[in-house]
Amino acid sequence: MLELLCPLCQTPLTTLSPTWHCQRGHTFDVAREGYVNLLPVQHRRSLHPGDDDAALQARRRFLDGGHYEPLRLALQDMVASCQGANWLDVGCGEGYYTATLHAEGRQIYGIDIAKTAVRMAAKRHPNIHWLVASAARLPCAAQTLDAVCSLFAPIAQAELCRVLKSGAYLIHATPAEQHLQQLRAALFAEVHPHQPQRHLQALQKDFHLEHTLCVEAELDLHADALADLITMTPYAWAASAERRAELLARARLRTQMQVQLSLLRRLETDATPRSN
Ligand SMILES: C[S@@+](CC[C@H](N)C(=O)[O-])C[C@H]1O[C@@H](n2cnc3c(N)ncnc32)[C@H](O)[C@@H]1O
Ligand SMILES: [Zn+2]
Repeated sequence: MLELLCPLCQTPLTTLSPTWHCQRGHTFDVAREGYVNLLPVQHRRSLHPGDDDAALQARRRFLDGGHYEPLRLALQDMVASCQGANWLDVGCGEGYYTATLHAEGRQIYGIDIAKTAVRMAAKRHPNIHWLVASAARLPCAAQTLDAVCSLFAPIAQAELCRVLKSGAYLIHATPAEQHLQQLRAALFAEVHPHQPQRHLQALQKDFHLEHTLCVEAELDLHADALADLITMTPYAWAASAERRAELLARARLRTQMQVQLSLLRRLETDATPRSN
């Protein structure tokens, strides 16, 4: 099992149901759905951090509709070649891609700062460990993870470096230049291409880039799927109410998914390697 730490005092957590506890007596209940909330109120910047319920429900419907299936398949191919037992999906959302990581001999953890996301994920995928926690303070001991996925989620690079073993994998997905170009053109007067290379440049300070590819698919969206895409896409909220309403009134939109999917490996660290 992965060594988890108490978010309040960083001593090891004993993970026995129905209540986890640390050496100093802090306790965390296992929810009915099987997840554990390790995000103390003092570590939250708002009452309900992360994606809201409407965005999460919309993303679940959209992903269940198979629109991003080519990305799920590309991820599946990528992770098939990776070794190691302890895997973490940070900013896992409602767990669509996390479930793809599952394989014999792997312990998979999904972490999201939004409690509703983790609850939805736990209900659907009981064979995965689900935690409410922040990417900025992962409840994991140093150098214990063999692989981390960060898919369209905020990255706290120093924290990732702390928890990953030397040589461990980082799987990263971010919008490529023309991702949802037509959707963005309908929402904004001026559209700038995404800059996926910027993420890779920053990551290459601590990671070796093994492989990167651009996963593309044409999307032909009818009204319901279009409404869900608008609701689940964070930047769509930056558009004017008028433009959003115009787009929502459309019966159909053709656009393109274009995602940069990368496999990186943690460079050797100076810290003493752990024996496990
Ligand atoms: C765009 S969604 C991507 C979800 C999922 N990875 C996917 O691709 O379907 C970003 C996710 O990151 C979560 N998130 C935002 N800030 C976070 C943080 N500081 N720590 C952990 N998760 C965070 C949000 O709640 C949301 O579920
Ligand atoms: Zn504690």
